[in-house]
Amino acid sequence: MALKITVIGTGYLGATHAAAMAELGFEVLGLDVVEEKIDMLRRGEVPMYEPGLGELLRKHVAGIEGSSGRLRFTTDYAEVAAFGDIHFVCVNTPQRHGEYACDMSYVDAAFASLAPHLTGPALVVGKSTVPVGSADRLAAYLAEHAPAGEDAELAWNPEFLREGFAVNDTLHPDRIVVGVRSEKAEKLLREVYATPVEEGSPFVLTDFPTAELVKTSANSFLATKISFINAMAEVCEAAGGDVAKLAEAIGYDDRIGKKFLRAGIGFGGGCLPKDIRAFMARAGELGADQALTFLREIDSINMRQRGQMVELARQALGGGSFLGKRVAVLGATFKPDSDDVRDSPALNVAGQIHLQGGQVTVYDPKGMDNARRIFPTLGYADTALDAVRGADIVLHLTEWREFRELDPAALGEVASTRLVLDGRNALDPELWRRAGWTYRAMGRPTA
Ligand code: UDX
Repeated sequence: MALKITVIGTGYLGATHAAAMAELGFEVLGLDVVEEKIDMLRRGEVPMYEPGLGELLRKHVAGIEGSSGRLRFTTDYAEVAAFGDIHFVCVNTPQRHGEYACDMSYVDAAFASLAPHLTGPALVVGKSTVPVGSADRLAAYLAEHAPAGEDAELAWNPEFLREGFAVNDTLHPDRIVVGVRSEKAEKLLREVYATPVEEGSPFVLTDFPTAELVKTSANSFLATKISFINAMAEVCEAAGGDVAKLAEAIGYDDRIGKKFLRAGIGFGGGCLPKDIRAFMARAGELGADQALTFLREIDSINMRQRGQMVELARQALGGGSFLGKRVAVLGATFKPDSDDVRDSPALNVAGQIHLQGGQVTVYDPKGMDNARRIFPTLGYADTALDAVRGADIVLHLTEWREFRELDPAALGEVASTRLVLDGRNALDPELWRRAGWTYRAMGRPTA
């Protein structure tokens, strides 16, 4: 009989995982403690913007015409425990307020709610990003609190999906990493991932701590690449070099690779910043803090980029204060193809200029509602053209395709001054210059 799968937590990770499991042919029950989210998902609506996820949900959510009916949702842990052979825990682990360490309260609450209902054999699989050592602790918790005792087992299976590519990354992962303590757990997870493995995804079998560490070290490496190229941008700026050319040239070395070498205002979002901080905090607890002191520098280079963008804008406007200056901001989300504004460098830059007296107008293709919610005092426009109308300077801060496809000549007609700063090194300088704009980017020559 086909395995029955439950997914606990229906954010970016859980909603996508649940839909993907249904797509792979399993019967799936998703759980969230937020009723409104569950109501939306039952109607096949996605609580956030994620390309392709709505279509995949509607293909499988029970009750939707023409769907496979394999995917249902609930808020009831007893129903989840009774239904599933495998329970994926996909709740979030945000940064704790005022601390580097991550907040494990959602994970702990999920285990506390599920464990007492586990009366028969079950495999609980952690997918959330957690400090190393959590899986050991949670396995002991299950053994103590699940009535099934040793029959309720734990495995750790970190998730590497990127927002904006979540569906594809889940159905066709670069690799599947699985930490297990028994052959039974391994067998069940091989069954779950049989299709992607057949299609070529490597299956990496390991222990709990390694599985947990793969996730945090991968994100640390990615953060390091970005801060490395941003450090090179600073040096290029000082020496008159071009960081975009430099990135292209070093990227041809496939030991280095081209990806994640785009200099600009740096990384943000719900993962990289908090993951490197939580990793440092955990290493400190383990007495290995010296090993990760470099991450402090990675973090500080990253945060410095935002301030440098503000400074570049000030200099470009003549070096005085922002008072009375009209600043158009293109982009609010932390990256394109997402509506996520968590720790967004774009909004941070917009906010700094606003707080220094600039008259900021923001436009983003998908992030407006979230941006308005967390930064209601900024100005907002419904289109890029409206944001640019009357602007003394245009800041390009999130590299949406829509912005690359803008017609600089048309924008030039409505702007007060043809001055654009590309905080993502993603616009075509020649295109803008030909339309009469002064184009500036971080780490690149002025003309
Ligand atoms: C990241 C990891 O990529 C993913 O594997 C993990 O599961 C979760 O964290 P995500 O947060 O969706 O995914 O974003 P990602 O695409 O990694 O981008 C992170 C940030 O880095 C964005 O703000 C992006 O704009 C920035 N970035 C990325 C750069 O500044 N330069 C680059 O070259 C690449």
